[in-house]
Amino acid sequence: MGNARHTPNARTVLQVGPLKPSLAQTLADRYEAYVLPDGPERQTFLSKHGDEVTAVVTSGRTGVDADLMAALPRLGAVVNFGVGYDTTDVDAAAARGIGVSNTPDVLNDCVADTAVGLMIDVMRQFSAADRYVRAGRWAADGNYPLTRQVSNTRVGILGLGRIGTAIAKRLGAFGCTISYHNRREVSGSKYSYVSSPVELARGADVLVVATAGGSDTAKLVDQAVLDALGAEGFLINIARGSVVDQEALVAALRDGRLAGAGLDVFADEPSVPTNLVSMDNVVLLPHVGSGTVETRAAMEKLTLDNLDEFLSAGRLVTPVVQPGIRV
Ligand code: 8YV
Repeated sequence: MGNARHTPNARTVLQVGPLKPSLAQTLADRYEAYVLPDGPERQTFLSKHGDEVTAVVTSGRTGVDADLMAALPRLGAVVNFGVGYDTTDVDAAAARGIGVSNTPDVLNDCVADTAVGLMIDVMRQFSAADRYVRAGRWAADGNYPLTRQVSNTRVGILGLGRIGTAIAKRLGAFGCTISYHNRREVSGSKYSYVSSPVELARGADVLVVATAGGSDTAKLVDQAVLDALGAEGFLINIARGSVVDQEALVAALRDGRLAGAGLDVFADEPSVPTNLVSMDNVVLLPHVGSGTVETRAAMEKLTLDNLDEFLSAGRLVTPVVQPGIRV
């Protein structure tokens, strides 16, 4: 008997981009998944196997663009490991009736913890103070300079979705005054709605970016928003680097027009602007917001639940777009 995925009606899974090793292993062992090669072998692979693939498993770091969808004519679902799916062309998928799923909710707590951790770190300068101790400067230079209080500050949340709400809940316990901006006011929210990102930044000590990525939010935090946040203001970004005008951010920090920034995400990961590396008022994380054993296991399970539901019932458990509905 030949490999099941080579029969005409087989359900064939393709891994696109690197995945959590245990997830990649399960795809190989349980689903006999193909792995899309990089470089010149990719075209050869697609010509040979493209029409067998019915489901892709990918992550927010890689995604599936319209060209790859076109090379996979039987593709029915893109199963995305991660809540953010801005690297997958959802409009192209919807136009072809291809479903897209993500992993919402299971990572809210860890990403919100990361936002609060970054806020505390950048305002109290814990990472910088740790470097101060390690460099022997406490003994040599004396006490560390005073920093800024976190509790009771005014926090503006750009994007009061699932993660933004989890951040607001935590900061409520710190006595912070929370306001937010979304495209639409969230009905019934106890937080104050502000009608533009500039107004939100103007009334905040700390601006926390928690929107989705993609073209709708590209450079939403621009020079004008950073100016409104001002020389005493802090920016926290746990969303996507694309939401912030990174050049404007680096310039504002360099010129002392912004007090500090806590960043888990960047415009062109894993590249980080070299100017930021020498700044003690900036905390730089390598996109680890959801990166705990517990949360990544939950994301892995939800990814496989989506894949199984698609393969057995043609539906997705946590759809961004359900398969088979052409939009
Ligand atoms: C993941 C994320 O690191 O869920 C997201 O959108 O950015 C992170 O949780 C990433 O998606 C994994 O590739």
